[in-house]
Amino acid sequence: MRTQVGIVGAGPAGLLLSQLLHLRGIETVILERRSREYVEGRIRAGVLEQGTVDLLNKAQVGERMRRVGLVHEGIELSFGGRRHRIDFRALTGKAVTVYGQTELTKDLIGARLAAGGKIVFEAEDVSVHDFDRDRPKLRFRKGGRAHVLSCDFIGGCDGFHGVCRASVPRDALTTYERTYPFAWLGILAETPPVSDELIYCQHERGFALFSMRSPSLSRLYIQCAPDENLDEWPDARIWDELRARLGGDAAEALQSGPSLEKSIAPMRSFVAEPMRFGRLFLAGDAAHIVPPTGAKGLNLAAADVRVLARALTEFYASGRTGLIEAYSDACLRRVWKAQRFSWWMTSMLHRFPERQPFDDRLQLAELDYVTGSIAASTALAENYVGLPLD
Ligand code: FAD
Ligand code: PHB
Repeated sequence: MRTQVGIVGAGPAGLLLSQLLHLRGIETVILERRSREYVEGRIRAGVLEQGTVDLLNKAQVGERMRRVGLVHEGIELSFGGRRHRIDFRALTGKAVTVYGQTELTKDLIGARLAAGGKIVFEAEDVSVHDFDRDRPKLRFRKGGRAHVLSCDFIGGCDGFHGVCRASVPRDALTTYERTYPFAWLGILAETPPVSDELIYCQHERGFALFSMRSPSLSRLYIQCAPDENLDEWPDARIWDELRARLGGDAAEALQSGPSLEKSIAPMRSFVAEPMRFGRLFLAGDAAHIVPPTGAKGLNLAAADVRVLARALTEFYASGRTGLIEAYSDACLRRVWKAQRFSWWMTSMLHRFPERQPFDDRLQLAELDYVTGSIAASTALAENYVGLPLD
């Protein structure tokens, strides 16, 4: 088997890379470890930056997103018993779109398959070879048979636990990491959102986030311990905790509803440098992880593959390798700014177990400053809606 660009992973990064290259006449094959049903059902991100929305429209996969995505022109920060709005439109002229990663994934898979694109689901034992030479290879097993896919380049889009980053020699890689002493317990519930916009709550019981997927579907998160046992969190306890952290009239208005999904996500900041090794490119969560507080993970994955698709397009059109060589640095500049923002939002809104009373006071002063100063709220807003792409 042979293709131009072999892609490992059918998450947002791999699928969007495949679609962008297809539109430039470049052929890809995606190898995905899981089944199509699993990939399409995985509940994760919800917020798309304006630049991500523009990219998806350009990639001709924006039709349903334009129809059912919810355009949000601000968020609310709740602390000290009050809610404060950050008005993105007024501060930056931009907005974000709430559209579930599950829906985006379905749109991308649908578009790839409709155009005859090749996605091998349930590809087992994928391994990467010879990316330091001209003809890299991907080996895998499917239905008990061994296959070799030979390609010009490999897109390592296989997420944080994937095989691509793990195949790079250790001494060629520098990693930067921070773990946080808490996690997020999330539920997807059949109940209308308590507010039209997302509410990020700083509270002495811990952080909470009130998000949504549609006018009848809420996505809610509470800060919990990293080793929390889900069995100890029946729905009723989660709703009580959400009400306590939200407070005020909204807490009474919050309607419990049947939960469709419940999971715990660890919080981590991580960057691997560089993001290219010869003909292997890492993109998305394979190269970096952010804590979800800034809603940046999926958006960073999209920004990476935009840069990569351009670099490969230039190579196939002219043989020039300048953009390929610039890939890692171009991505990392954006990645580190998103790391900074995600770390900052996380630090400002969560309750750290080891904190001192001094830290509590600083946290409240920071929130007061961010919501009271046009300069500070603009800094939050321009990062949240997405820094310029070029
Ligand atoms: P993934 O989505 O992880 O895809 C990688 C794919 O590779 C998977 O399909 C996997 O099965 C496959 N794979 C792995 N190993 C192999 C292998 N060996 N062989 C073959 N295939 C393999 N981001 C935002 O931008 N906004 C948000 O609001 C947001 N909220 C989030 C909330 C939560 C609770 C979580 C957990 C994450 C959130 N994120 C958010 C982050 C976002 O979901 C990720 O950054 C995004 O999924 C990254 O896409 P990716 O394609 O790089 O990786
Ligand atoms: C979500 O809706 O899943 C979501 C929204 C905002 C975040 C993280 C997750 O910061």
